[in-house]
Formats: sequence, C-alpha cells, structure tokens
Amino acid sequence: MNNRRNFLKQVSLLSVTAVAANATTPLLAKDFGNSSQKPGFAVSPYLQHLTPTSVYVMFITDSAAYSWIEYESEGVDKQIAYMEEDGLHAAYIKLNKIQIVNLQPGKTYRYRACSKAITLFDPYKLEYGEEIQTEWYSFTTPATNASQVSCVILNDVHDSPTAFESLLSLVDNRPYEFVMLNGDTFDYQTDEQQIIDHLLAPCTQLFAGQKSFIMVRGNHETRGKFRREFKNYFAFPDDRYHFSYKQGPIYWVVLDTGEDKPDDHPVYGGIVDFDAVRERQGKWLSAIVNTDEYKEAAYRIVIMHIPPFHSGEWHGPMHCREVFDPIFRANNVDLVISGHTHRHGVHPPDADHPYPVVIGGGSKDGSRTVIHLEANETRLHLEMLLDDGKKVGEYTLTV
Ligand SMILES: [Fe+2]
Repeated sequence: MNNRRNFLKQVSLLSVTAVAANATTPLLAKDFGNSSQKPGFAVSPYLQHLTPTSVYVMFITDSAAYSWIEYESEGVDKQIAYMEEDGLHAAYIKLNKIQIVNLQPGKTYRYRACSKAITLFDPYKLEYGEEIQTEWYSFTTPATNASQVSCVILNDVHDSPTAFESLLSLVDNRPYEFVMLNGDTFDYQTDEQQIIDHLLAPCTQLFAGQKSFIMVRGNHETRGKFRREFKNYFAFPDDRYHFSYKQGPIYWVVLDTGEDKPDDHPVYGGIVDFDAVRERQGKWLSAIVNTDEYKEAAYRIVIMHIPPFHSGEWHGPMHCREVFDPIFRANNVDLVISGHTHRHGVHPPDADHPYPVVIGGGSKDGSRTVIHLEANETRLHLEMLLDDGKKVGEYTLTV
C-alpha cells in the first residue's frame, strides 16, 4: 500500500523553513478586510467555491434590496454580475449568492458589492433607495494545474467567534489560499443571526472577502431548527455537502459524515437518514476514484469531520469506517483529516488504517488547534498548532 510514498513522521519537530517556498500570497494582518461594516450591509462579501474560472460572492443586506457585484481586473474594464433566473434578476432579498463566471485562472480581480433597497415593490412600479457599495476587495483565482497549494484547516469551533482570530493569527505569516472549516463550527443551528455572529462576521473581518472558506458539515450542523436553511449561506459544487476538486497537486475529497448516533436514536425524533447519506457518498466516491484526475494527482486527501478510526465505536464513526475505509485503502488515499473527537492527534499508518489519520483538537481554549498544510509536486507538509502556538503534530509525505 502506498509503496511509492515515503511517509515521514516527524515527532522530533524541526524548524520550519519550507513554508516560505510557497509562492501563494501570505495572508498578513495588513491584508485583512476592513472590519467596519458598511451601512446597509449586515454581512460584508465572503467568497465561496472559488475555482480557476469562477467564484460565488455572498453578502447580506439590511433590508430587501436589489444587489449586484462590480468587478474588474488589470486590462479589463469594470463588469457587473447579478443573480438571474428565468429572465428575472433576483431582487427584494437580503441574502445574496452571486456567481462570477468566465474568470481567468491565476488572475487577481477587484470587486465590490452594490445594492439599493427596494422601498416600493408594486406590480407596475418599483422605487429604490439610495445606491450603496462596500469597499473594494480583491481575490486571486487558482492557476489551472498549479504546482503548489496551501490551506488552513479549523475544526470544532463550536460557536466560539473569537477562536477564528486567535487561531488564524498563529499562521498569519504563512501562505494559504483557502480555509477549510472541518465540521462542528456550531453547536446546533438556531437562526441566521447565529450564522452571522459566530461565523460570517469574524471571517469577513479576518479573511473571507479575499479568500474562500469551505464549510464541511459536522454532526452538530445537522441539529437545530435552522439546519435546513443552513446550506443557503454557502455555495457548494452541485449544491452538495460532499464534493471533490483538484487544487494544486492535491485531489481533495470532502465528505459529509452525518450524525454520530444511529438514525433511530430518540434525539433525532425519527426524521433523519444519515446511513443513506453515507451510503450514497460511498457509491459516489467509488466512481470518483476511477477518474484520471483522481488517479493522476500527486496526493489524494480526504476531509471528513468524523474520523473513520480513533473515534470510538458509536454508530456514526463505525459506519464511516464500514462505508469509506475499503474505498480509501483500495485507492491510495494519502491522508485523512478529521475533527470531532476533541482530541488532537497525528496517527500514522498502522495495521488498522494504511493511511495517516490527522485529527484536530477540541472546542475549549487550551485544546483548540489550527492545521496548516502546504504541498508541491514532491512534498506535502502539515503542521498542527495548539492555540498557544505550540506545535503538537506534524506530518510529511514525499513523492
Ligand atoms: Fe463532531
């Protein structure tokens, strides 16, 4: 298994000199978006599903409005993007999910959100309020077939908005292209204000106007009365919580591991079916691993909130193992990155799992972790830092 790989577990921690080799732009504090909220905008723009040729810009206005994005790049005049379906521009709404398409790979764009409240919406007469704009932000599309990639992975934030700044500040001198939120960002879903206060506000203040984040569903995001609306606040490939994509030399597989208890557990009230969710993903993944893009990537990484090992013997973890592990081991998965257990650890390949399993830390101060990962075509390196900055895990793969 994975004979072509040389797994190096570096328990004796070496100084980190390789991080500077990545050409992606470091996210320094001075690059943070302006934290001041513009009047009329409840949430500043945040980027979702950024690809070499497209991106979703999301934002929330204070009142029902007609909104659009203005964007431009060097040598290209200002253009406009808006939501349209069946000939109708989306309007008289607050939550905006505007896709910009036909972008060029590896190019930097400037953009801002624009909006005007609809003060009268009669059948034959519309009246608008004053036009308002956010400040200008910028983002860079990933290059097609980029030779390197870097990212930051957080997990189990559990309704702790201040954790974003404290954890990201530990890696703000390192390059990263996107942030992966690997499940249980919340305890359960209550309403929109919770999503704003505990996720969107801190992330837009820190990075999300310039760099995308990926919302990985954990078992706690399946809970609460607002769980069905939760998905509306993010943009996913094919509008699914599970998806895969190639960025840099890595083929990324993101899974939705569902709940941790059996579907017939009383706390779920008879209205969940996560066995089916996992089994559907197993069939989907069995097809994905047969694609040339998967097979030919330098590395194959699985991001899944509940780890298939080192996670106890409740139904959810065991069903993840039953459904996914045979696919992982038969198809050269190089690394699984999880959370959920609140016990950080780097578990190298062993008799149980022939691939490393990295698990991020817990939800309390003193146990939180941030994972920084970067890879080029010959070396993938991951470090896990505790929230006091101490390095508590490290893993390197070489081709
Ligand atoms: Fe969890």
